[in-house]
Amino acid sequence: MKIPVIIDTDPGVDDAIALFLAFSSDKLDIKAITSVGGNIPLCKTTKNALDLVDYIGKNTIVSKGAEGPILRKLETAEWVHGESGLASVVLPESNIKLQEKSAWDVMYDEAVKQEGKLNIITLGPLTNVAMALIKYPDLKDKVEKITMMGGACYIGNTTPAAEFNIYVDAEAADIVFKSGIPITMVGLDATHKSCIYENEITEIVNVNNRVSQVVKELFQSCLRVCKYFNLDGAIVHDALAVAAVIDPSIIYKEDHYVTIETKGELTYGKTVVDIYNVTKNKANAEVALGVDREKFIEMFKGMMKVYV
Ligand code: BDR
Ligand code: CA
Repeated sequence: MKIPVIIDTDPGVDDAIALFLAFSSDKLDIKAITSVGGNIPLCKTTKNALDLVDYIGKNTIVSKGAEGPILRKLETAEWVHGESGLASVVLPESNIKLQEKSAWDVMYDEAVKQEGKLNIITLGPLTNVAMALIKYPDLKDKVEKITMMGGACYIGNTTPAAEFNIYVDAEAADIVFKSGIPITMVGLDATHKSCIYENEITEIVNVNNRVSQVVKELFQSCLRVCKYFNLDGAIVHDALAVAAVIDPSIIYKEDHYVTIETKGELTYGKTVVDIYNVTKNKANAEVALGVDREKFIEMFKGMMKVYV
C-alpha cells in the first residue's frame, strides 16, 4: 500500500528537486502540498508550489500556510534560492486553484481521514505543523510520523549552531519535538554526506525528457551554493528527507532525545541531541546520521525515467 503523505514545503531550489522526486515515486500517495514562509516569503513559496505541481503534471491540492514564524519575524534565504526561490528556473504560471482551507486544516482533516496512517514530510520551517498542533491538540495521536529536513547534531548552516529550518522558527520546532509524534530528523549530519558530484549530476540529467532542463538548472544552482560553503558537489537537503520516506534504508539513523534551544543568544535554533543519553530521557526522534549515497543517486536516476 502507498504511504499517504502531506508535504509541507517552502520551495526553494532543493524543495523543488524534492517535489520532483516525491511525485516520481510509486510508494507515495501525495494528498496535499502545503506551503510555508521560509526560504522566501509565503506568496512566493505558494506560487512556486502551485507552479511545480502543475509543471510536474499533477492536480494535487496545494494549500497555503503561515506567512512567518509563530513569535518572530521571518528570516528568508534569497541569497541561496534567488529572489523567486527557484534560482534561474522560470516555470509556466499554474492553472491549479489554491485550496481554500489553510495548511493546518488540511493536515488535520487528512490525518482524520487516514485514520492514523498519515505521514507528514516537512521541508521548511515547522510553523504549519506547530499551528496544526496548537489548533488541534489531538492531531498528535493521528499522525503516523513526521519526517523532517531540519536540524543537526554537530553543525549549523545559518548560525554556527543552527540549521535553517529549525532556526527560522525554533518555537515551532520545540512544539513539534515535544508533541509525541514519532519524528525522523533528516538533518545536516546526513545531508552533508549525500553530496552529489558534478559528474554524477551529469549522469542523472543527461537524458532528454520534459523535466530534464529544469532539474539540471536546479542541481546546478545547488552546486553553486555548495561551492560558497567550500563543498564539492551538490547537497539537495530536502530531497534526502523525501528519499528517506520512499526508502528508509537510504539513511542510517539512531534513536535520540532531541530538544530545541529557544533561548540561547548564540545557540537559538539548535537541535540539542542527547547522543549519550545523559538526560536519561526517552528518545523522541530517529536522527539520521549517515546515508547510502549510491542508493540516493540511483533514486534520482529512476526519477528521471518516470518523467518521459
Ligand atoms: C534547508 O534550508 C533551506 O534553505 C533548504 O530548502 C532546506 O530545507 C537546509 O538547511
Ligand atoms: Ca526547504
